[in-house]
Amino acid sequence: MPAPACCVFIATSVDGFIARTDGGIDWLKRVEREGEDYGYQRFFDSVDALVIGRGTYEVVRGFDAWPYGGKRCVVLTHRTFEPKAKEEFFEGEPRALLDKLGAEGLKRVYVDGGAVISQFLAAGLIDQLTISQVPVLLGRGLPLFHPGTEHALTLVESRSFPSGLVQSTWHKDQRGASGASGDRPLTPALSPLRRRERETG
Ligand SMILES: NC(=O)c1ccc[n+]([C@@H]2O[C@H](COP(=O)([O-])OP(=O)(O)OC[C@H]3O[C@@H](n4cnc5c(N)ncnc54)[C@H](OP(=O)(O)O)[C@@H]3O)[C@@H](O)[C@H]2O)c1
Repeated sequence: MPAPACCVFIATSVDGFIARTDGGIDWLKRVEREGEDYGYQRFFDSVDALVIGRGTYEVVRGFDAWPYGGKRCVVLTHRTFEPKAKEEFFEGEPRALLDKLGAEGLKRVYVDGGAVISQFLAAGLIDQLTISQVPVLLGRGLPLFHPGTEHALTLVESRSFPSGLVQSTWHKDQRGASGASGDRPLTPALSPLRRRERETG
């Protein structure tokens, strides 16, 4: 059985943070609007399961209501917890977890938590990335992207909302990090840059 596709749906500040340094996500309220979920429910309905980091888990565990309904949820952690809503716990390599989930017939998982997303990215396992940029600069905080490897992406869609939120979706680009196929010139606007890159090696 093939491993499930891994998808990300996450909100960041314009400077790329997913939470304040203390884990605070109060700034997400800036874009809360009655009747507007920015496509979250549609995305949530499209996945078979969630794979979340312990940092994210500890936040949602503290919510009054478990936010993932009856959807399967695997928490990556080295610690021990008493399950709150039939969540499962896993410790190990992302690839090993995906092989296990694939063998169980799962097709699409929602990966959440900055450290975990970065780990999946480093292993080349993220297939789709939707980032909703909230119009705020936090200056500091918990990053979405940790230092890792280079990945080329293909933009699928980008749109803005009246609240100022800008949401973009990318797929993994199979052509390699440069994004260029062979020696074909890039767009005319980029060609001088490309020429200069060649001249300077
Ligand atoms: N803005 C948004 O849309 C959004 C979305 C999600 C989360 N958040 C926020 O982001 C914060 C959490 O993100 P984060 O980047 O700090 O942490 P995270 O990715 O949620 O969790 C990282 C932790 O998961 C455990 N872990 C990771 N990989 C593992 C592996 N392969 N095996 C076993 N355990 C593993 C480790 O914890 P241990 O080893 O200590 O167990 C690690 O410290 C929270 O404040 C949350 O509110 C924001």
